[in-house]
Amino acid sequence: MSAPLPQVASVPSVLITGAAKRLGREIALKLAANGWRIAVHYRDSVEEARQTVADCSRLTPGAQAFRSNLGNETAVRNLLPSVIEAFGHVDAVVNCASTFEHDTAATFSFAAMEKHMRSNAGAAILISQALHTHIVERRKTQPDATGVVVNLLDQKLWNQNPDFLSYTLSKSALEGATTMLAIGLSPELRVVGVAPGLTLTSHLLPDDKFEEMHKLSPLGRSSTPQDVAYAVQFAVENQSITGTTLLVDGGQHLMRFKRDFSLM
Ligand SMILES: NC(=O)c1ccc[n+]([C@@H]2O[C@H](COP(=O)([O-])OP(=O)(O)OC[C@H]3O[C@@H](n4cnc5c(N)ncnc54)[C@H](OP(=O)(O)O)[C@@H]3O)[C@@H](O)[C@H]2O)c1
Repeated sequence: MSAPLPQVASVPSVLITGAAKRLGREIALKLAANGWRIAVHYRDSVEEARQTVADCSRLTPGAQAFRSNLGNETAVRNLLPSVIEAFGHVDAVVNCASTFEHDTAATFSFAAMEKHMRSNAGAAILISQALHTHIVERRKTQPDATGVVVNLLDQKLWNQNPDFLSYTLSKSALEGATTMLAIGLSPELRVVGVAPGLTLTSHLLPDDKFEEMHKLSPLGRSSTPQDVAYAVQFAVENQSITGTTLLVDGGQHLMRFKRDFSLM
């Protein structure tokens, strides 16, 4: 006889933004393997989101996909309530989605800054605010209810270079928000940062160059997607961590690079 399915109401649930592919998918699979029901947020990656939902559901039943453009405030404000409506409750949010477009001091514009700030910092703050409201409401009948937010940052905040100015500013804002929200939304929420090093390649970095750059750290290796997902799981499940950031980068933040990896 097969084991009965867990009662959905008793299963912890987490919204992961940008979870269709890459690091977000890895985090989703890790948490699903650990008994979390996953809300897979995506914007354009429809097929990949469907696949991630199917793969997560095999680990913990009930994953669903939620589409939203995090550059649009109304869409951001509607996202968590739509997950709560579908799942009944949400316990955690992982803010992983990110705009990553190149600019420098020479090409900076308000438009570039605003685009990065909206999706990378503003959306994460609004979703945290919505989770806080939800937990406050839940505490009326469940006084012990708590929530957690994990914000994906970047080792480059501790190791700055002139590239990706607007992206770096937005992650810097999110790092500041991690501290401020940990204070402002306690005791209902914990808020934790996870800062990967160079983990996955991009269209700007050929595979052989990526392998070379990945070795550039005191440990001779930067982070793997599994390292990052494991750190997120730790941050989500450790009940006493808040207002701090786990740097998961092989120590890259201890080094100095003149340019971004993709432009070295
Ligand atoms: N990859 C690395 O080596 C690395 C290193 C340091 C830090 N990080 C941080 O780790 C996180 C994950 O990295 P990643 O490389 O997996 O991210 P990514 O591939 O650059 O982006 C993840 C997802 O973000 C979504 N997204 C972007 N703009 C959006 C918007 N306006 N609205 C909604 N969704 C939007 C996209 O979803 P759709 O495809 O569905 O449109 C995209 O697939 C990011 O926060 C990144 O800054 C990554």
